[in-house]
Amino acid sequence: MDVVTGAFSFTGRYVAARLLESGREVRTLTRRPQSESPFGDRVRAFPLDFTDPAPLRDADTLYNTYWIRYPAGATSFEDAVAHSVALFAAARAAGVRRVVQLSVAHASPESPYAYFRGKAAVEAALAESGISHAIVRPTLVFGDGEVLVNNIAWLLRRLPLFMLPRAACRSRPIAAEDLADLCVEAALGEDDVTVDAAGPEELRLEELVRAVRTAVGARAALLRGGQRTILALTRGLGKMARETLLTPEELSALADNLLTSTEPPRGTKRFANWLRESAPGLGRRLATGDRRPWPG
Ligand SMILES: NC(=O)c1ccc[n+]([C@@H]2O[C@H](COP(=O)([O-])OP(=O)(O)OC[C@H]3O[C@@H](n4cnc5c(N)ncnc54)[C@H](OP(=O)(O)O)[C@@H]3O)[C@@H](O)[C@H]2O)c1
Repeated sequence: MDVVTGAFSFTGRYVAARLLESGREVRTLTRRPQSESPFGDRVRAFPLDFTDPAPLRDADTLYNTYWIRYPAGATSFEDAVAHSVALFAAARAAGVRRVVQLSVAHASPESPYAYFRGKAAVEAALAESGISHAIVRPTLVFGDGEVLVNNIAWLLRRLPLFMLPRAACRSRPIAAEDLADLCVEAALGEDDVTVDAAGPEELRLEELVRAVRTAVGARAALLRGGQRTILALTRGLGKMARETLLTPEELSALADNLLTSTEPPRGTKRFANWLRESAPGLGRRLATGDRRPWPG
C-alpha cells in the first residue's frame, strides 16, 4: 500500500493511476471528498491532516505532491514548508519506508523566489528526517488537469490579442505520465537521490503559445510586452474570472528560464503529441489552482 497526497488533483492523479495499474493499494491525503475521486472507491481518501500518522501506517511509500502555487488565505510558503515537515514526521512515526517528494527544478535556498526557496527548505527537511527518499524536480508538467497550458488556451480562445514577455522563457516540459513513471521507479530504490524531471525538447514560450493557438484553432494576435504590462492585464482578467491567472513571481521565474533543466531528459513524450490529442477540450474552462471549474 502506498499513500499519495493529492490523488484526485493533477500530478498525484497520474501517480495514483500508475500505482493502481501495477496492482498497488493506494490511499490519499486530500482536501477533496471521496465523491470527487476519479478512481471511484479504489483509492481511499483521508483528510489532508499533516500531523496524523494513522493513514500512513502500513504504507511502503509516501508520494508527496503537496504544495501551494502562491500564498493564499492564511497559508504562506513558510506554512507550506512547516506542513511538509510535519508530514515527514508523521511518515516516520508511521514507519513509512520511503518518501518520493515532488519538488521543482532549480529549487535553491538562494533563489530570489519564495516558491523555489520553500521547495529547497522542504528538500533539506526531508534529508534531515532520515527517511529514505527520492526528490523529483519537475520543470513544467503537461497533462489533463494542468493549469498553465490550459489557461493559455483559455485566453487564446477568448481574446483577440495575447501578450508574450520579451524574454524567451524556455521550458523543457515533461508529460505527467512520464513524471508518474519516474516517481514510481524512484520509489523502488534505497538510496537518497535528487533528479530533475524534464522532457525531451526545449520550447520557448512563443513556440508553446503558437502551438497551442494552432491546436485549438484560435486566431489571437501575438504581441510582445513588458512584464509590468502583462501582469496588469492578467490581473484585470483574473479579477473578472475571480482567479489568479499569473503571479509576478511565476512570470519572473518563467522569464528566468527556471522551467528548464540541464540534466538529461527523463521523459520521452512530446508536448506536440499530447497537444494534438487534448486540443478539443483544452482551454474550454479556466483551470483554477483549486481545480474549481470556471464556466467557459
Ligand atoms: N504542475 C507543474 O507544472 C509543476 C511543475 C513543477 C513542480 N511541480 C510540483 O509538483 C507537485 C504537484 O503539482 P500539481 O500541479 O500536481 O499540484 P496540485 O495538483 O495542484 O496539488 C498538489 C497537492 O497540493 C494540495 N494543495 C494545492 N493547493 C493547496 C492549498 N492552497 N492548500 C492546501 N493544499 C493544497 C492539493 O490538495 P488536494 O488534493 O486537496 O487538491 C494536492 O494534494 C507540487 O509539489 C508542485 O510544486 C508542479
